[in-house]
Amino acid sequence: MIPASSDKLSIMTRILPPVLVAVLAPAIAVAEPTLTIDASKPAADVSPMHYGLMTEEINHCYDGGLYAELVRNRAFLDDSKEPVNWTPVGGAKIALDPEQPLNDAIPISLRVESTAAGGGVANGGYWGIPVKPSTTYRASFFAKASPGFSGPLTVAIQSEDGETTFASAEVPTLSGNWNTYETNLVTAADVEPTTKARLAITAKDPGTFWLGLVSLFPPTWNDRANGLRPDLMKMLVDLKPKFLRFPGGNYLEGDTIDTRFKWWETLGPISLRPGHPCPWGYRSTDGMGLMEFLLWTEEMGAKPVLGLYAGYSLKGDYVKPGKDLEPFVQEALDEIEYVMGPVTSKWGARRATDGHPEPFPLEYVEIGNEDWFDKSGSYDKRFAQFYDAIKKKYPKLKCISSVGFEQPKEKWVKSRNPDVVDEHYYRTADWFIKESPGFYEKYDREGPEIFVGEWAAHETDYPPWDGRAKNDPPTPNMEAALGDAAWMAAMERNSDIVTMQCYAPLLVNVNGRQWRPDLIGYDALTSYGSPSYYAFRMFSTNVGDVIFKSETADTPVQASVTAGARTGDIFIKLVNPTSTDRSLKIDIKGLRSIQPTGEAEALTAAPDATNSIDEPTNVVPEVSEVTGVKPSFDYTVPAHSIVVLKLKAS
Ligand code: AHR
Repeated sequence: MIPASSDKLSIMTRILPPVLVAVLAPAIAVAEPTLTIDASKPAADVSPMHYGLMTEEINHCYDGGLYAELVRNRAFLDDSKEPVNWTPVGGAKIALDPEQPLNDAIPISLRVESTAAGGGVANGGYWGIPVKPSTTYRASFFAKASPGFSGPLTVAIQSEDGETTFASAEVPTLSGNWNTYETNLVTAADVEPTTKARLAITAKDPGTFWLGLVSLFPPTWNDRANGLRPDLMKMLVDLKPKFLRFPGGNYLEGDTIDTRFKWWETLGPISLRPGHPCPWGYRSTDGMGLMEFLLWTEEMGAKPVLGLYAGYSLKGDYVKPGKDLEPFVQEALDEIEYVMGPVTSKWGARRATDGHPEPFPLEYVEIGNEDWFDKSGSYDKRFAQFYDAIKKKYPKLKCISSVGFEQPKEKWVKSRNPDVVDEHYYRTADWFIKESPGFYEKYDREGPEIFVGEWAAHETDYPPWDGRAKNDPPTPNMEAALGDAAWMAAMERNSDIVTMQCYAPLLVNVNGRQWRPDLIGYDALTSYGSPSYYAFRMFSTNVGDVIFKSETADTPVQASVTAGARTGDIFIKLVNPTSTDRSLKIDIKGLRSIQPTGEAEALTAAPDATNSIDEPTNVVPEVSEVTGVKPSFDYTVPAHSIVVLKLKAS
């Protein structure tokens, strides 16, 4: 886009005699592209809840993703007819056996009939078992033997064809009763990393035995049992998130009322967690249960933002407000008590039993998810019933309405004043770039806080839920990152009203996705950040605590300026979505002096450039020194770039 004034000048050179142009030209000077910053006083505080994270069981985010369990269909409940993801080895016969239930929660087991030495069963994990050198894997399972058989069993991580053993151990004897067995499998230092591996449990001699809940964990983040995958956790911790919105999303609601996220069924030993069907087409193990979500927030230094099931499920079932809804309100109150109640309370005591006597720092709860889909129009009354009960017991908790102002007015909650409303924006990069300037500036400052609880830019002209999206890469490219950055700048400039926001979804197993775009991609062995991940990280790690009012003039560059009130840090975030380098006069008013050198972190790439499993670092930010910094100085923002200038007032 050429500034209007220079257009005028070139038209005049075409229609006026040269001598007149010479006289008139200085009077019609080309306006200088400028970013003016008022550093004399903060315009507002940056909300302490910028920036957050959101995901749910989608795209194998947890099972086959962040939750480090490597065995797929570990409880044999994924399919009621076949032991899917399990294969017989060495000529054995395998079958689901409801006659030999593991327990009431997992009323099934796997019968393995080995007719020859070395017969047994193998599991290929979530698109492979990741084998790494010098690594200790923790295998555990329940087993019992038929009369006349007592083992031993060999537990091994081996190549897909069983020809190469990477690590193995022996369980010497089985009995006729269910017992749990645990063993370490340690790989050698010279093992080549691979995903082409399986876990095999085989019998040395012919015989019949049953297996229940077979589990294999690699090392986890902080070495926590039943914990999280370290490479993904490192990427998340690097984002310095302030909160985690969980457990969903659609995953909270379930397809039906019965398949909602029943938080109480996700507590305690994994052998007592049956899991449940998730709305994204596969069964969740619930290994990532309520306590694991809370520990995850804690391990990231983030706060929980808890989604409460509010009586509406995806396929349209809803619970009538009033008497019918009361048990669901009680479920929510109990869940809140589990998270933050004293250990003297029923559910606070259960939390202590589960290993965490300290209450978690819960400040926000969200009542339902995307309840604008409820065609019955019951949300206003359902919200009110939850709101009243929650406020009575926990007056300080902020209640978020799941219907934001981006929805038609008739869908909004009107019978109560929600503390916060949740808006969702899955839009094209172009939409974000065009709409971001002035978008939240227009919002009523007297209204509720805004939580942008799901947002992401896509490069395509069709949305993520369109069938065509399944042929596109799972993670977004630089074009999307530019849209994301324009949107983040808009939300940050307005974080007095947009107090919370989180990109969604966060994670995708590249072999098993239902939704794109997603911030972080991975397979069983490796992971990578998309350009949008790096854009997000650049924003979320350079926040400051106050907003300086800023204005751009005569430039398509978008900006947000924040500062550390005590540190003197000034963060100038610039987004140039165009294909031309843009020189900018940066005019910082009200600043006595500034250090002459600063730092620029820049993400610059062609719009279609991206990262992938094979090219994980094709598009990453680069850091360089910026010299000649003054209260008023010139800076060129490269074409297709996102830049954070880190300056220091002196
Ligand atoms: O983030 C994916 C889905 O998008 C969420 O589950 C839902 O809330 C939204 O429609």
